[in-house]
Amino acid sequence: MATFTNKDLKQTIRDSLGVDDTDKSSKITEAFVANKKQQRLPTEMLSEKNKTNHIELYKGYVDSFNRISAELDAADRSNASSNSSQFRSLKIDETYNLNGVYLHELYFANISDVHSEVAMDSLSYIKLSRDFGTFDAWQRDFIACCQSSRCGWAITGYHIYLQSYVNIFVDLHSANVPVGVYPVIVMDVWQHAYYRDYLKDVKTYTHAMMKELNWNVIESRFKKAERISEAIRD
Ligand SMILES: [Fe+2]
Repeated sequence: MATFTNKDLKQTIRDSLGVDDTDKSSKITEAFVANKKQQRLPTEMLSEKNKTNHIELYKGYVDSFNRISAELDAADRSNASSNSSQFRSLKIDETYNLNGVYLHELYFANISDVHSEVAMDSLSYIKLSRDFGTFDAWQRDFIACCQSSRCGWAITGYHIYLQSYVNIFVDLHSANVPVGVYPVIVMDVWQHAYYRDYLKDVKTYTHAMMKELNWNVIESRFKKAERISEAIRD
């Protein structure tokens, strides 16, 4: 069976944009390419229509990011402007859609574990208890972040400057994103994530998703975060 590679995808995007490979001034050589990942959501806390619609929406971000990334390679940098320019607009859209892709993949992977269980001797439990005082304090703070986001995300992550796990919230996909945070727990609190099943009750939706957090996935992220912490220590 033929394999569809990143190279093929880039060429398809080049062709759709009408970019000529022989024209060195507009040649695309560095475009980033995101690949759609299969998502599996066995949870019964979300309706099938909600899940199907959400995964389709995620795929739309992948498509948008790939198109924008390819357009950026050919964009005119000489007329970049903070007031208005094609380059500026594409860079804003690049971040928005890349975060849309990355955050959805993190979210889908860390919810929907119907056998969810957090072990008290796990790295996740120990580090959250250490940095928030208690595990319950982390939960309360995280839920407050979920309720505070204006259609966006709540994230627990390792902050490389603070050398601590922190909770943050993001509005939309890219507003109020602190620099230097490696995400370990991600919750989608856009209305599209819950409105069909929970109407405007983001708190009940959040509690439902937190009952099914996939602590195996989260634990592997904590292990990576600890390696990052170790690697950048002075
Ligand atoms: Fe979403």
